[in-house]
Amino acid sequence: MCGIVGYLGDGNAYNVLIGGLHRLEYRGYDSAGIALVDKKGKLNVYKTMGKVSVLENFCKDKNVDSHIGIAHTRWATHGEPSDCNAHPHYSEDGNLALVHNGTIENYKVLKDALVEHGCTFHSETDTEVLVQLIEYVRLQNDCSLLDAVREALKQVIGAYAIAVIEKNNPDCIIAARKSSPLVVGVGDDEFYLASDASPFVEFTDNVVYLKEEEIALIRRHEPLKLYSLDNKENEIDVKKLEMSISQLEKGGYPHFMLKEIFEQPATLLDCIRGRVVDHGRIVTLNGVSDNRDTFINARRIVIVACGTSWHSALIGKYLIQDMCHIPVEVEYASEFRYSHPVLTPDDIVIAISQSGETADTLAAIKIARKMGAFVYGISNVVGSSIPRETHSGTYIHVGPEIGVASTKAFTGQVMVLTLLAMTIGELKKTLSPEDVAKLGNWILKLPSLVEKVLSLAPEIERLSLIYTYARNFLYLGRGYSYPVALEGALKLKEISYIHAEGYPAAEMKHGPIALIDAEMPSVIIAPKDHLYEKIVSNVQQVKARGGSIIAVVTEGDETIRNIADHVLEVPDVPECLTPIITSVPLQLLSYYIAINKGKDVDMPRNLAKSVTVE
Ligand code: AGP
Ligand code: GLU
Repeated sequence: MCGIVGYLGDGNAYNVLIGGLHRLEYRGYDSAGIALVDKKGKLNVYKTMGKVSVLENFCKDKNVDSHIGIAHTRWATHGEPSDCNAHPHYSEDGNLALVHNGTIENYKVLKDALVEHGCTFHSETDTEVLVQLIEYVRLQNDCSLLDAVREALKQVIGAYAIAVIEKNNPDCIIAARKSSPLVVGVGDDEFYLASDASPFVEFTDNVVYLKEEEIALIRRHEPLKLYSLDNKENEIDVKKLEMSISQLEKGGYPHFMLKEIFEQPATLLDCIRGRVVDHGRIVTLNGVSDNRDTFINARRIVIVACGTSWHSALIGKYLIQDMCHIPVEVEYASEFRYSHPVLTPDDIVIAISQSGETADTLAAIKIARKMGAFVYGISNVVGSSIPRETHSGTYIHVGPEIGVASTKAFTGQVMVLTLLAMTIGELKKTLSPEDVAKLGNWILKLPSLVEKVLSLAPEIERLSLIYTYARNFLYLGRGYSYPVALEGALKLKEISYIHAEGYPAAEMKHGPIALIDAEMPSVIIAPKDHLYEKIVSNVQQVKARGGSIIAVVTEGDETIRNIADHVLEVPDVPECLTPIITSVPLQLLSYYIAINKGKDVDMPRNLAKSVTVE
């Protein structure tokens, strides 16, 4: 997830590009760069770590006089944020400059082959491999840049939105996309290119959205041309843009939180990309397989985290104990650090943090390292502090999460924990290859199953109206659904300010059931799993005391439908995958209740996206 901007016309390319990067900064902002061909035909590339404003200051005394250019604000996936890893990347002969949004899964194979052919690389990124490959193909076949881009992209496995310019042809931009978005703005004898239309919305409302595996040939004073990867010319479908800048940044959604909830089919795909392959038969996390003996011989796993990440950690406990038979303890990082923890070198500590900057989690990591434990990080921000402090780890690759209330990062963390448990289970042979293949195949279906759950949104929006003025909520679940109950309660609390408590359903009879009455709605997560009969009796206990019940159930469940006041039906999946499915309706329910109450769901009172203080 990053921001790409391009410009070709008679205007000032630099102003359009820098202004456009500012508009796209919400998409990722660990570094930024720009490539311009000046009036003397020199290809100038300027790039800096940090926000767009750092690049802008850097360019103040540079030659930025140009009518053509491309620019990029990065959300790193391969290679830490740095000046060198920032985009644009250029070919060895300095003739080409390229920016890229996405991940090249097979970049290592391609890079090794190019090194064999004598190519040298300067960055750690997958992107640099692509620009070198394009140049290599072009020199080998003595072909046009367009043909070289097409041939190179046929060798790429992964996701890309790219823009390429060349020194020797300053009247042409070539762009292409697969899985990552790219849109062309068609002006009056000038062209714009961007990840979404927000960078050029004031210049033109004529837009062409590139289709999957489509290549755009943008030439000065010529009409736009579109081609497929097999070199067939495609129809051009110019649409009228009818969105404000603010709406555009949110992808047309009213809030980042809703956008991020609806992004989850795509972010789950990004999260498993390259990690679940061969129709699900092969599941692997490099961070684990690179440290196989450590994980095979681990005596205990301690997971430290805060907030939503602590809830995904609890799900990790069930996953790892179930699939790997390793004892797991889950600790609030803030408690762990002061609890006189006892760790040995046979212990593994897993630290989970979306931001990678949470102070308590960072402190826990430092203590764990000091005590000799192997520390593994699960984070979303490449190059943030926690991945730098851990011995190994995995990025969840869900792109920037702007909404303070975590949604796509939660399901991304749970997904990575599932893959981690499967990888360890297979190494320890506590999980058979057949189990892995069966589960891997289900995981490949999850994005479309989450898509199906999202279609409940209108029903949940209507349901939210009934409960908007409740003053308290209970969220109940058992087994894998217990952490989901905690997470659902936190989502409601932090954006609607309604008090909500997550509780293990069976614990209700040990006191909290005294709370139940018509004024205390209960959300009960009750999928068809091995505890189903038990949760049914918990539902009956709440009903018998006059409580109103919203139940999240497996589709076709008539038993609970006859007891609860409202049921939200979700697809049937293997028990260990239910959290990713059952948490989505709870995200939507809390969102709509908070909207009904007129709350600022993206920036709730008193909260921050990353708690970098104690
Ligand atoms: C979750 O919706 C909250 N924003 C908060 O609980 C968050 O999960 C917690 O602060 C931990 O943040 P981290 O994952 O970035 O470490
Ligand atoms: N994979 C590329 C990198 O890590 C592009 C990341 C992005 O989409 O910003 O540089």
